[in-house]
Amino acid sequence: MLNRLPHRLPRAVAGALLFSLAACLPGQTAKDDAIQKKVDALLRQMTLGEKVEQMEQAAGQPMYTPKEKADALAKNGIGSFLFFTDPERINALQHIAMTESRLHIPILFGYDVIHGFRTIMPVPLAMASSWDPALVERTQSMAAREARAAGVHWAFAPMVDIARDARWGRIMEGAGEDPYLGEQMAAAQVRGFQGKYAGAPDHILVSVKHFAGYGAAEGGRDYDSTNISDEQLQNVYLRPYKAGVDAGAATMMSAYQNLNGVPATGNRWLLTDVLRHEWGFKGFVVSDWESVGSMKTHGFARDEEDAAIRAVQAGVNMEMTGETYRKWIPAAVKSGKIPESEIDALVRPILAIKYRMGLFENPYVDLKKFQQETLSIEERTASRTAAEQTAVLLKNENHLLPLNTNLKSLAVIGPLADSKLDTMGSWAIHGDRRDTVTLVEGLRDSLPQTKIDAAVGVEIERGSATIFDEQVIPEKPTLTAGAAKAEAFAHAVELARNAEATVLVLGEAQTMSGEAASRARLNLPGEQERLLEAVVALGKPVVLVLMTGRPLDITWAQQHVPAILNIWYPGTEGGHAAANLLLGKVNPSGHLPVTWPREAGQEPLYYYQSLPQNPDNTEHRYWDASSAPLYPFGYGLSYADIRMKGMTLDADSVSTDGTVCVRAIVENTSKVAGAQVVQVYTHKRAGSAARPARELKAFQKVWLAPGETKTVALEIPAKELSYWSPVAKKVVLEPGEFDLWAGFDATATEHKSFHLTAGK
Ligand code: BGC
Repeated sequence: MLNRLPHRLPRAVAGALLFSLAACLPGQTAKDDAIQKKVDALLRQMTLGEKVEQMEQAAGQPMYTPKEKADALAKNGIGSFLFFTDPERINALQHIAMTESRLHIPILFGYDVIHGFRTIMPVPLAMASSWDPALVERTQSMAAREARAAGVHWAFAPMVDIARDARWGRIMEGAGEDPYLGEQMAAAQVRGFQGKYAGAPDHILVSVKHFAGYGAAEGGRDYDSTNISDEQLQNVYLRPYKAGVDAGAATMMSAYQNLNGVPATGNRWLLTDVLRHEWGFKGFVVSDWESVGSMKTHGFARDEEDAAIRAVQAGVNMEMTGETYRKWIPAAVKSGKIPESEIDALVRPILAIKYRMGLFENPYVDLKKFQQETLSIEERTASRTAAEQTAVLLKNENHLLPLNTNLKSLAVIGPLADSKLDTMGSWAIHGDRRDTVTLVEGLRDSLPQTKIDAAVGVEIERGSATIFDEQVIPEKPTLTAGAAKAEAFAHAVELARNAEATVLVLGEAQTMSGEAASRARLNLPGEQERLLEAVVALGKPVVLVLMTGRPLDITWAQQHVPAILNIWYPGTEGGHAAANLLLGKVNPSGHLPVTWPREAGQEPLYYYQSLPQNPDNTEHRYWDASSAPLYPFGYGLSYADIRMKGMTLDADSVSTDGTVCVRAIVENTSKVAGAQVVQVYTHKRAGSAARPARELKAFQKVWLAPGETKTVALEIPAKELSYWSPVAKKVVLEPGEFDLWAGFDATATEHKSFHLTAGK
């Protein structure tokens, strides 16, 4: 079904379709007509070679492109560079383009602004744990401001790939497993990065990635093919990308992998029929890194020339590294393999974006502004607040947390306790580890009267090189000899023995998740669990703080450690945020955006499943292990005791053009203020296809003062109950009976039912 249209359309048809792609930008204003005229006028002056140059993006930094070559590319009129972050160098290249290139077209500078630029925010999976789209919008808008001040115009973010397998390293870069939460996070990030419209001042363009389905890599193995049924593609995987487009995304990035047998970068159905024609996308598509040329490796393109031609025909406007366009497209046009009108159609939105960003008039970085906007107090505060709002309290037996601020002594132990680099997480390439506050530092700042002893206990190392090693120099283990390792281990346990309480900071080093960082196991790497066991065996208060980019197998810890706080990778201000959480200055309020498995063999594990045969036995599908999650999707505890006192529906019948109104009554019965995330799930009892037993349809984070009761109103427009039916092969909104639950995670128990009736 994926290939509803042949990939190689007759040339005339292909040309006409592409030619019809408007060159205007999302967030259309009256200015656009004027921009169109300018683009057309400029295009008329451009040679074929100059047009194709605009479709090229080269990687900066000496390790990819030597200075002389980058200068020559700028002079030649290249469309874009990625990876330049030094404002002076950006200005120099821009100056060459503006003064020495024939048509003085400014260069677009792109960068992986994933969770912050210089000030690092929590990783995206953490940000999704906030269940707070406004917070997500705010942090990405701050990241945008900082990046733009340095001369970066364009983020290769947000990554909105649905990920349901914790083995996949890039699960950390997205919003987790759920299409509805994914939509909210996608739209919030687009609004945050781009501001009111694509091209707004102090903001940067987005590239919603990786279109499409990259997160479903088989076996969680990064880059491997994805095979996604039409039903899942339409109802789950495509939705967050569509939300990004609806929010005004200026660009999209085509994915690396084969989607149902066709590489995403050569997939005309995906990039043109769905993206442009069905969804009305008006921006441009950039390929992923060398993903044009790699279509030959896929066994799809005959050679590089064929790959370049097919990427053009599919609708890839710009090639991210690889240079196949430059090498092959001019000749392909000259020999009639591609009409020049097709190239014009692909170049138009690139030029239009440059006009829209004001780069023709104002191409340079203001170095004074750059100084002011970098790592400001405001940004650091935003980073701390974000980390406070995204940590998930997984366990808190007998209210061990928050820790008593009068502690005389505290041991802070583990390989991540004082690691600045790891606190930032993966994809924080421009972050400077020296700016980062670790847990040890954060706790020392907050507890000046307490004797805090810190030790690593064990060291962890990925053991194989990463694709980022040249850009982010990893920290090498210092304990190489067996005796030194044993001594460090014993020393840490001794500190724990002599302290009133111990905080163990365990998890994964930042190199262990992210791109090309998939795992077959989900255990705590190295000897960390042995350290944990040794400290727990002392019988003193122990808190496990997890730093990770994915759910880990912490089944032993759940059974034996009284308190577990997952702070993901919290970013620049992570240590201060964690201290505030551990000491109760801030109450944890994060909830899981992914189902947390007990062990790797359960993956992929997610809540959005239909109820099958033998429904009472879904937790015992394996004879040798549980098939139930360790923590369900949406789960998260608070120091406050917040309960759902009841839930009502305004009506038990709703028409297909109406709205389901849910009122949930929540009460804080404790003496501390805190938050809960009210989540509403529905189930369609019967229809043309089987629907999941539960689907998230609405949520709201709500803060309650001690003793406070609130009624939270949540609305579900009936059209949200529609779905793509694999029987009807289209989106349907079928009347019938629905179940609805409200609660604080995917196991919500407060239940009502309602009837959906045919509207007028
Ligand atoms: C990744 C993209 C990223 C690009 C540029 C690729 O390997 O898949 O997500 O934006 O590199 O760094």
